[in-house]
Amino acid sequence: MTHVTLDEESGGLKLQSDRTSIILHPLWVRERVSGPAIFDPISHQRLYEHAELPQDLRIYKIGDQNEESLKLEFSDGPILKLTLSEVLKEISWQENSESLPKPKSWTANLKDLPEFNWPDLYEANIFGKALDAYFTYGFCIFQNTPVETDSLKRLSRRFGYLRETNFGELFNVETKPNPSDLAYTDVALASHTDNPYRKPVPGIQFLHCLRNEVSGGLSTLVDGMAIAQALRKENAQQADILEKVDVRFRYEGPSAILEHHGPIIERDHDGIIRHIRLSSRLDYVPALDIETLTHFYAGRSRLHKMSNSEDFQISFPFRSGTLLMMDNYRLLHGRTAFNGAQGHRHLQGCYIDHDGPASLFRMLANGRNVTSVIRED
Ligand SMILES: [Fe+2]
Repeated sequence: MTHVTLDEESGGLKLQSDRTSIILHPLWVRERVSGPAIFDPISHQRLYEHAELPQDLRIYKIGDQNEESLKLEFSDGPILKLTLSEVLKEISWQENSESLPKPKSWTANLKDLPEFNWPDLYEANIFGKALDAYFTYGFCIFQNTPVETDSLKRLSRRFGYLRETNFGELFNVETKPNPSDLAYTDVALASHTDNPYRKPVPGIQFLHCLRNEVSGGLSTLVDGMAIAQALRKENAQQADILEKVDVRFRYEGPSAILEHHGPIIERDHDGIIRHIRLSSRLDYVPALDIETLTHFYAGRSRLHKMSNSEDFQISFPFRSGTLLMMDNYRLLHGRTAFNGAQGHRHLQGCYIDHDGPASLFRMLANGRNVTSVIRED
């Protein structure tokens, strides 16, 4: 039960629960009330400029009140409705069904991989479970997807909008003569995150197996959150430096020269580790002092070793029709070696932004129909 009273000193509201209390600024409250001419009912945009509100605004009076809402009389005249449940969700006093599932860090002990049968995703509740697994573990594996060339365009569009790059809308990963990247050979690829040199860094990567006639070539994944947490446990000073130092990442190719800066480990506004930039062939740290760089290099080396160790890495085969969806900020990916002489191995890949699955999760949480959004045609 939340008790709401006026805070005489600030002109705002005082909210009190059994455990805690908070004073809400009158302008903060005013930006959350509803009423005529406050919000456009379709776009949900404010119909006024908040700069026009008096800076010395106060709440004069609390009028009709029930558990769900209360009427507030403001010093500039209007009487407006405040929905209490919305405020309690925003200040985290009440659970918010729109909140994305919290990530759970995992290591090589992760036994039940989040795996779904693609045709089942037409059921909204299964689609919701796949989204939940993606946010929790940072990846999802789908089996039995269509395998025509370029079908990844429509498969990935069920989750968001394609992010085209200088590699095209889709990129092909297959062995070929005179390869421009190690990905196009049959050698093992160490754990890495893709494209830290792009601004913004691509959010989600899809890898779709069209054909696989070779043994080996297993896909590997590592939870960047888990290795960053492990590094902090081992050596907090090294972890601090990897979070502070902005590294330059650079790509130079025939059609683009790309650069972007960022730390090796980055947290979000809630302090959760969200973004790992580990791309051992494209990173250039600034010429900092000897002591800082000694810790930086030791920490980066330790992180690289953990990202390729059996303690943290999981692996699984790509079969024809397997589709992997992974958070390119959180997870590192790679592959084991294979023998290209055994046959053809053809994957296609693409990127989408983080927004797509997050929007679909919120739509489902609000009971909205997502069928038209997630169709493949
Ligand atoms: Fe990659």
